[in-house]
Amino acid sequence: MPYPTSRLTQILGTQYPLVQAPMSWVTNARLVAAVSNAGGLGVLGPHAGHSTAPSSTEETVERMRAEIRKTRGMTDKPFGLNVILAGSETPDAFNTAWITMALEEGVTHFISVGNATERAFHLMKQQGATLIHRPLTPTVANMRQAEALGADVLVATGHDEGGHIPASAWGTFTIVPTMVDAVRVPVMATGGINDRRGVQAAFALGAEGVYIGTRFIVTQESPAAQSVKDRIVSSGYDDMAFVSPVQRSIRTRTADQLAGLLQDRHNALDLDDEIRKLGGLKPGMLLGHMDEGIISVNTGIDIIRSVPSVQELVDSLLEVG
Ligand SMILES: Cc1cc2nc3c(=O)[nH]c(=O)nc-3n(C[C@H](O)[C@H](O)[C@H](O)COP(=O)(O)O)c2cc1C
Repeated sequence: MPYPTSRLTQILGTQYPLVQAPMSWVTNARLVAAVSNAGGLGVLGPHAGHSTAPSSTEETVERMRAEIRKTRGMTDKPFGLNVILAGSETPDAFNTAWITMALEEGVTHFISVGNATERAFHLMKQQGATLIHRPLTPTVANMRQAEALGADVLVATGHDEGGHIPASAWGTFTIVPTMVDAVRVPVMATGGINDRRGVQAAFALGAEGVYIGTRFIVTQESPAAQSVKDRIVSSGYDDMAFVSPVQRSIRTRTADQLAGLLQDRHNALDLDDEIRKLGGLKPGMLLGHMDEGIISVNTGIDIIRSVPSVQELVDSLLEVG
């Protein structure tokens, strides 16, 4: 049965109202093209397709240019690029170079996360690209501000999510309808959506689409190490710990050390910075050196019990195929 088109699928130019969320180190052309070929919107995240740290801004940008070209060689469907917006009004030199390269490469969808600013939005939208924006810690005020600045789609993130979680403890079940009522543009739900029940719940809450990260790590096309996929499949919420005020991990040796520091009221280290110094999500998730890093996932991993292909996953999430 054909899936109904909606204003969101029209804005995205996709068959389905589904976005594969960008994830540092654990996306690549293969995963992204597979999602887009399956009818969703695949999104390249930071370090897509690489397993070593770049040595300069220029190398970072040129690596992504190559990955964009590789993705285009694997799909004729739309796909997106992640842009991380830090605090300042003017995009920094890195983001200016990143977005300029993406526009040269004809990128049609930007997925920005962080602080909405007029200049960054203008830069991304100057050639008519579609802009999906996700505040890291959503509030009614910052969602409305992003809408006023020109976001085409907004993502409401619940505290259930994997990655850098919102600083507020606002869960997906309550944040989604709140944001749906607060803005006029389509709202996508994210945070803990791992199967068709989550997708149906998101629509019931008023979301017009789903934005899914963790579940795509555990697919055949994901570049995460097989041992990491297996670990997620055999783990549950009880195996997780907070490793910084805004990051969770499945327990590993490093995760336990970080969790201990988080509990220690004498600790003065910035634990997110410590995780960055360890290589971010690269050692634990991409390389499978689990004891040397963290494994960042959402709160719903008890229900992730298989490693399907992307096509199988998309079909089962949307009950199509
Ligand atoms: C391993 C991992 C890495 C992530 N890295 C990024 C990132 O680099 N940029 C970004 O915008 N969001 C990042 N996120 C957040 C996702 O884009 C998305 O918001 C989140 O995965 C959605 O929640 P879910 O994991 O419950 O599906 C990451 C999430 C995970 C699980």
